[in-house]
Amino acid sequence: METSKYIADEKRYDKMVYRKCGQSGIYLPAISLGLWHNFGHVDNYLNGRDIILSAFDKGITHFDLANNYGPPYGSAEENFGRILKNDLMPYRDELIISTKAGYDMWPGPYGNGGSRKYIIASCNQSLKRLGVDYVDIFYSHRFDPETPIVETVLALSQLVSQGKALYVGLSNYNPEQTRVASEMLASIGTPCLIHQPKYSMFVRTPEEGLFDVLEEKGIGSIVFSPLAQGLLTDRYLSGIPEGSRMARPNVFLTKEHLTQGVLDKIRRLNNLAAERGQKLSQMALAWLLRDSHVTSVLVGASSVNQLDDNLQALQISDFTDFELNNIEKILKA
Ligand SMILES: NC(=O)c1ccc[n+]([C@@H]2O[C@H](COP(=O)([O-])OP(=O)(O)OC[C@H]3O[C@@H](n4cnc5c(N)ncnc54)[C@H](OP(=O)(O)O)[C@@H]3O)[C@@H](O)[C@H]2O)c1
Repeated sequence: METSKYIADEKRYDKMVYRKCGQSGIYLPAISLGLWHNFGHVDNYLNGRDIILSAFDKGITHFDLANNYGPPYGSAEENFGRILKNDLMPYRDELIISTKAGYDMWPGPYGNGGSRKYIIASCNQSLKRLGVDYVDIFYSHRFDPETPIVETVLALSQLVSQGKALYVGLSNYNPEQTRVASEMLASIGTPCLIHQPKYSMFVRTPEEGLFDVLEEKGIGSIVFSPLAQGLLTDRYLSGIPEGSRMARPNVFLTKEHLTQGVLDKIRRLNNLAAERGQKLSQMALAWLLRDSHVTSVLVGASSVNQLDDNLQALQISDFTDFELNNIEKILKA
């Protein structure tokens, strides 16, 4: 049994801004931490632990997982469970822990999608790996065209009535799927707390209808890959650094994404951020947080320094119309 000397910073709640999640009673930190990359068994456990404890010390109360985060699948939940057990369990009631099921997890017909069979089994597995009785938010990770939406909705609701999840969320559902699922959820007394879409300066899809539905239904949003996986930072300004996400084996961010056009935009945005007295990563996060549809930005980080950098986004958060117009011009160039 590992022994921890961790005691959370007593000033942690002075350092963070908390925003109401839709029309619920839940506040989320403006910046939350996701464990998709950097927290699997392939990664350095102590580095991951430092990032998580440092995040909590700075007021980040929300940690986002999914069944298949790692690699290998499940290992981010196992590592987070180890940190919970050894360090954070005294603070369990101060944490919002989320996990998800929807994508490929185990072999055979029941390890993927949106069936009741998969969702319930996956949640049970996640609870074991995390070493907790319940998660705060359980998501359907994606809309599954092979499963009637009512089946997925009833499975999510069942998790809440069994006490295995306090709230439910939807991720990657388009506006119409979100409307249908959230109306069904509301009608059976399990309102949808939150939606998790991809949103950044480079990916604007939620502006095309999703945010309208969320506002109408009183649902909050936590936006993933807000730094476009590192593109909206200074990480790739002078090449592809060793150890960066783009340099590691990974199909989600490859050197093909770093076209001359993208690099030009990153350079121009970086100059604009410098004129504002901040880093590009900070400007990219502040730009998202200026929209009241966004409850929280869900960042990833491979070091405590990166996380600290990102937290500075809260220091310079206002934009002039001139700056906003310039950003649009750069993004549309
Ligand atoms: N619902 C879904 O389908 C879905 C999908 C994807 C992600 N997510 C969630 O969203 C979370 C965040 O996604 P993401 O990791 O793609 O987010 P991101 O914040 O856009 O990218 C994080 C990566 O950017 C780099 N980075 C971060 N801060 C930096 C800084 N200040 N300076 C330089 N580089 C910096 C790091 O990459 P290096 O490794 O290069 O250092 C870091 O791992 C995930 O962990 C997960 O919880 C959900």
